[in-house]
Amino acid sequence: MTHSQIPLAGVMGDPVCFSKSPRLHGHWLSSYDIPGHYVPIHVTSENLEDVLRAMPRMGFVGANVTAPHKEAVLRLAHNVTDRATMIGAANTLIFGEDGRIHADNTDGYGFIENLRQGAPDWDPATDALVLGAGGAARAVLAALIDAGTTRIFLSNRTRIRAETLRETFGAKVQIVDWEKAAGIVDRVGLLVNTTSLGMTGKPELRFSLAGVRPETIVTDIVYSPLQTPLLQDAQARGCRTVDGLGMLLHQAVPGFERWFGVRPQVTPELRDLILK
Ligand code: ATR
Repeated sequence: MTHSQIPLAGVMGDPVCFSKSPRLHGHWLSSYDIPGHYVPIHVTSENLEDVLRAMPRMGFVGANVTAPHKEAVLRLAHNVTDRATMIGAANTLIFGEDGRIHADNTDGYGFIENLRQGAPDWDPATDALVLGAGGAARAVLAALIDAGTTRIFLSNRTRIRAETLRETFGAKVQIVDWEKAAGIVDRVGLLVNTTSLGMTGKPELRFSLAGVRPETIVTDIVYSPLQTPLLQDAQARGCRTVDGLGMLLHQAVPGFERWFGVRPQVTPELRDLILK
């Protein structure tokens, strides 16, 4: 098959049955009346390379990548964007006509677009406190620094992981002990939870917002539940909150545009559709 036929894209993961991407891209394809398909592709780590190499020949123009393959695809791609290299993971692949695989990471883009849509007056110059030091934190740090934030306090239960991130991102990142992070919340205009705490089935994030300023924006990358205990607490204290669902929706935009040639809109109706 060649790219002149109906374009295919999909999401590769193990498991992949929980991914919301097929519903999201499927909705955009039908809304914009685009003759294309987006499918879930269950791929084990063992089969990743074979499947990836075969996809361009099968008519795929690209793919999203989810756990556990986001790091492994960097080694298999022919080109990797600087931001994907810095984050150490890719979530979006574009297959060239020549079968070459280009890897990018749009998680940080999704984070910033969600923040801008949910809190339009967010000032990137304001200091931020980021909780967590996993893959999501890497994308958030890269995006904040790119947007112009010059001071980011970073706190993680396992301090060494925060130190590794500081080595990547440099002096704009200052490490704060996990136990002491709540004590500096009065100094920041943006608080971001990038840990999995607060997600359905995980423990709650124990973080006191007692000192938070009401003008501080509080955002969570967790979107299940939509209103995490952290966001509920922040709202009760008069803070603006931005839930994590928009990050999932916005990160999908650049891939869809590259594969299918239309820049899709993230609308309130889309949020409802994905939550169903
Ligand atoms: P992701 O790629 O989604 O960010 P991850 O790399 O597993 O996932 O990172 C999960 C984050 O949640 C980490 O910051 C992790 O802290 P540790 O580095 O100390 O493991 C954080 N996290 C998960 N469970 C936690 C818990 N019970 N208490 C504190 N932090 C936790």
